[in-house]
Amino acid sequence: MSAAYPALRLRRTRATAWSRRLHAETLLTPADLIWPLFVTEGEGEPVKALPGVSRWNLSGIVDRAREARDLGIPVVALFPNTPRELRSDDGAEAFNPDNLMCRAIRAIKDAVPEVGVLTDVALDPYTSHGHDGIVDASGYVLNDVTSEALVRQALVQAEAGSDIVAPSDMMDGRVAAIRDALESGGHPNVQIMAYAAKYASAFYGPFRDAVGTHGLLKGDKKTYQMDPANSEEALREVALDLAEGADSVMVKPGSPYLDIITRVKAAFEVPVFAYQVSGEYALIEAGVAAGVADRDAMVLETLLAFKRAGCSGVLTYHAAHAARLLGA
Ligand code: PBG
Repeated sequence: MSAAYPALRLRRTRATAWSRRLHAETLLTPADLIWPLFVTEGEGEPVKALPGVSRWNLSGIVDRAREARDLGIPVVALFPNTPRELRSDDGAEAFNPDNLMCRAIRAIKDAVPEVGVLTDVALDPYTSHGHDGIVDASGYVLNDVTSEALVRQALVQAEAGSDIVAPSDMMDGRVAAIRDALESGGHPNVQIMAYAAKYASAFYGPFRDAVGTHGLLKGDKKTYQMDPANSEEALREVALDLAEGADSVMVKPGSPYLDIITRVKAAFEVPVFAYQVSGEYALIEAGVAAGVADRDAMVLETLLAFKRAGCSGVLTYHAAHAARLLGA
């Protein structure tokens, strides 16, 4: 027997702020946020395509990690802007144990060990062609040789102190290969957050500017990243990555793919994360600049929506701002 109007008035519990708080089904806190940060060899500078976002030098990146700690943000995610002269066809700089990424990991872990460090595993910031892997003469990204390179990359990151390696390359079988190498390499507690359902998206443009692959990338990434038309395939990707040893999975981009988050969470009941990517950030900022959007409200609403959809947490360039709004 369910009640009907007028005994049932759904507006009753919405009538006051305290009651809305009491009845909220979903809670967003700074502990739900992962803050992506760009690192550079240079002095550091603003990223043109992402107003309000900068590339930081090593001392800047350590300051950001301190800021994350003070704001209650548990994890920062690092992305390097590799100098042009260190980029090559095979992306070998990715597994140089002294590369920019590894130095940034060590600097953060030395200064602020209580902040988690997540590192992207993919070759695109290191290749001269901007692809996430090693290409053949036709430009096709080769799966198995790329996977071997990713294993070496994940290992130098783990050795430098990375807490979570996050393969974002979409090669088949790379999670198992990385898990294996971490186990036998003495890193059993390094987590893998697999970019399991990563779509070939138009929303990554500003990121490619930030890591300097913008002018380099030949063609698109459709032979490895997923078709936005598909969701059954996303479940297969997630199943595979979990079977191979992923501790958590990611859906990317975020807002246009909330249905995928909800399906993945319902099907697997594992920790799911979303990446509110650079294009999503840039659209919000463009809306604010055009005077048609309220930044604070949009930031909090979009982040809350990820939690409602089933996420354990969200990677967002608005992390520090959101944490401040949530008022530690
Ligand atoms: C690279 C990678 C990309 C992003 C995260 N890791 C770009 C791409 O796949 O081209 C995008 C993040 C963003 O747009 O904010 N493997």
